Amino acid sequence: ADLALGEQVFNGNCAACHMGGRNSVIPDRTLDKAALEAYLEGGFSVEAITYQVENGKGAMPAWADRLSEEEIASVAEYVYKQASTAAW
Ligand code: HEM
Repeated sequence: ADLALGEQVFNGNCAACHMGGRNSVIPDRTLDKAALEAYLEGGFSVEAITYQVENGKGAMPAWADRLSEEEIASVAEYVYKQASTAAW
């Protein structure tokens, strides 16, 4: 996983709904650590973020057919790092 690639993937594909780590569709479901701990299936981990990115959930689309494995691994790492360090 490559954090610079992850940031690029995030800005190109995720920021439409998750600008600045927020959620414009369901406002409580942000990408902050506390929200990920509360709402993410599987808790706060790179694996759980990867799972949701690959499969989608509710109004969030699935990305498994649109992004490469390397892009998904990198964007999951990027989201985890941003949330871990309260960088949003
Ligand atoms: C939730 C990541 C793209 C809409 C989430 C969550 C993560 C995430 C980690 C869990 C947040 C939480 O439960 O607090 C990403 C990434 C994306 C992406 C990395 C790009 C690859 C999008 C896009 C949309 C979207 C483009 C809008 C079309 C949502 C919605 C939820 C959500 C509605 C809440 C799902 C639910 O619990 O019902 N996203 N997302 N996401 N995302 Fe995304």
